[in-house]
Amino acid sequence: MTSLFDKLGGEAAIDAAVDLFYRKVLSDDSINHFFETTDMERQRAKQKAFLTMVFGGPNHYTGKDLRAAHAPLVAKGLNDAHFDAVARHLRATLEELGVTADQINEVMALAGSTRDDVLSR
Ligand code: HEM
Repeated sequence: MTSLFDKLGGEAAIDAAVDLFYRKVLSDDSINHFFETTDMERQRAKQKAFLTMVFGGPNHYTGKDLRAAHAPLVAKGLNDAHFDAVARHLRATLEELGVTADQINEVMALAGSTRDDVLSR
């Protein structure tokens, strides 16, 4: 079965999506404080890992699991509203890139399935 990652256009599509998604998240004052102490050099790679994961791409990801990665943020108040904001930016990014509605629904379902891990539940 072809992964959504391949259907969307593989690595080139991910690169385009990363730039757009990253700009949206960092310009949103309701969530950008979570990224205040984040190493900006590594941020691009993290966002790329983020999107490759939710697109079901090749799993070269060697970072922390989502629960561990976000636990310090939950301690700082990360909640459903913040998760919803990130999900909105993801949807808007895909829409701007011309991804089909079916594919967007698939991505949003995958992203949504990580909610309980990201929010330590
Ligand atoms: C679809 C849900 C999400 C996925 C798949 C995801 C994925 C990831 C990944 C793969 C990393 C890198 C982990 C590492 O460094 O080892 C990460 C880090 C991070 N995530 Fe998420 N994330 C999600 C939701 C969120 C939300 C809702 C926020 C905040 C609004 C957020 C904020 C962050 C921040 C600030 C870091 C970097 C932490 C640091 O400074 O090292 N994430 N995320």
